[in-house]
Amino acid sequence: MKSPDAEDYCVAVIGAGAMGQGIAQVSAMGGMRVILFDKREGGAEAARETICGRLDRLVEKGRQTAEEAEAQKRLLQAAASLDDIAPADTVVEAVFEDLDVKHQVFKEIEAVVRPDCIVASNTSSIPISSIARACEHRTRVAGLHFFNPVPLMRLVEVIVASETEDRVVAHLTALGKRMGRTPVTVKDATGFLVNLGGRAYTTEGLRMAHEGVATPAQIDAILRDGCAFRMGPFELMDLTGVDVNFPVSLIVYDGYMQDPRIKTSPYHKALFDAGRYGRKTGRGNFDYDDKGNMIDPPSPDHETDAEPADQVTLAEPDERLAAFCHEVGLTLAADDAPDRPILTAPFGEDCTHVAVRTGADFRRLVAVDLSYDWSKRVTLMTAPGADPSVRDRVAARIAAAGPKVTAIADSPGFVAQRMRAMVGNLGCYIAEVGLAEPADIDLGLKLGLNYPLGPLEIVDTLGPRTTLAIMEHLQAITGEDRYRPSLWLKRRALLDLPIHTPA
Ligand SMILES: NC(=O)c1ccc[n+]([C@@H]2O[C@H](COP(=O)([O-])OP(=O)(O)OC[C@H]3O[C@@H](n4cnc5c(N)ncnc54)[C@H](O)[C@@H]3O)[C@@H](O)[C@H]2O)c1
Repeated sequence: MKSPDAEDYCVAVIGAGAMGQGIAQVSAMGGMRVILFDKREGGAEAARETICGRLDRLVEKGRQTAEEAEAQKRLLQAAASLDDIAPADTVVEAVFEDLDVKHQVFKEIEAVVRPDCIVASNTSSIPISSIARACEHRTRVAGLHFFNPVPLMRLVEVIVASETEDRVVAHLTALGKRMGRTPVTVKDATGFLVNLGGRAYTTEGLRMAHEGVATPAQIDAILRDGCAFRMGPFELMDLTGVDVNFPVSLIVYDGYMQDPRIKTSPYHKALFDAGRYGRKTGRGNFDYDDKGNMIDPPSPDHETDAEPADQVTLAEPDERLAAFCHEVGLTLAADDAPDRPILTAPFGEDCTHVAVRTGADFRRLVAVDLSYDWSKRVTLMTAPGADPSVRDRVAARIAAAGPKVTAIADSPGFVAQRMRAMVGNLGCYIAEVGLAEPADIDLGLKLGLNYPLGPLEIVDTLGPRTTLAIMEHLQAITGEDRYRPSLWLKRRALLDLPIHTPA
């Protein structure tokens, strides 16, 4: 097997569509010879020309020199037939997502290449082991899963199938680096790392909207402004397309034997059935114009002209909440009064359970989420039957101090706690079943999904014990297995260990 550093290293790419073109481009940019094949007549040559145009554009943008681009272009070759890929040291398959087609292509590849050539698939949803079943030399078959658009997405997952040799994994990791990517090693399971790890963000957002906790615009705004996610789950869903993310949700859910933790909601199916795919159809969770800009996005802000509250009482002693009151200009009254707001800042509990536990009057109880940096947006939550005018007076005082306010219905863990606990819990489950190393789980989701923090880092920030408490409250209040804490989280929280502590 040739070293992945070898000057004359050769990569063959089968399937010159969106992904194949990107893989060929980054291979050439890594200084490797690339042979591109597509069964569509003229497909490989057209792809080669497209890639050359992209390499030239990088010169225009000042990202590389004209000499570099010329050298890269010379490395690209369009194959006239599959026989031309014989010199390849590694083949990356990127044909249609169909097991029968892939079986056929892998058989054809094996008939042409040397016995020491590595054969990898870029599939996003087909188990690598089931593709390898059709091969004679299964130990050299692995997954090399890139993300779209390849030149911009640094992550590549190296997927280890049941018979993949360690040296193949090490080789593909080095090759991925030479392509300028950041490789993470992942076991061969449905959705691999990123498509599984990303489920919680979509499905819990949908679940909260389905329950009527908050609107999609409110959920997006809280997660953007409070938790530094670049996009909320609903705008993200509209960007990737419901025609893509709804089927992926079902595939991953079934692949994990219908684990309720990653179950999507009827609202997702309703969008899919209605053809409301998002930006590409002009309608999804939101409406879009021809250029993909949102039309009249609903406001997530709570507007009120109520008289700002001056004095509040606390449902129970809470230093953090007292400090918050001080910062927004609310004075703590020593006694209670009939129309005075009562504040609480629960972790994992909803307003209803705080009222029952503390004996506070639920009609005047207003919960504030202090789990995140609230300087841009404060989330307020009330129980059913609460007096909206009491909440509005609190909201008016907070808005006068600067932050925007979003008012939501009763929910264990508000929006931000619930979402981060679910994303973190799924990351912990991935660590628990050994799908990837804890550090790679964080790296993969940051690079693959643009998360501000990886799932285990999110748990670290909230604190393992707090995350466990949120999950346990969610599980107890809803009575649902969906919210059962991962044992990885539970053990580290109980033992007071850092969340990245290996098993
Ligand atoms: N598009 C994405 O976002 C994305 C991301 C990661 C992985 N993937 C995976 O990458 C693979 C390709 O996806 P894509 O989006 O590039 O598809 P695509 O439809 O853009 O391209 C597929 C190409 O394969 C060619 N092809 C089909 N059968 C062939 C065969 N027997 N021999 C040679 N060429 C053949 C087609 O002519 C086409 O050019 C799929 O397995 C997909 O799951 C896609």
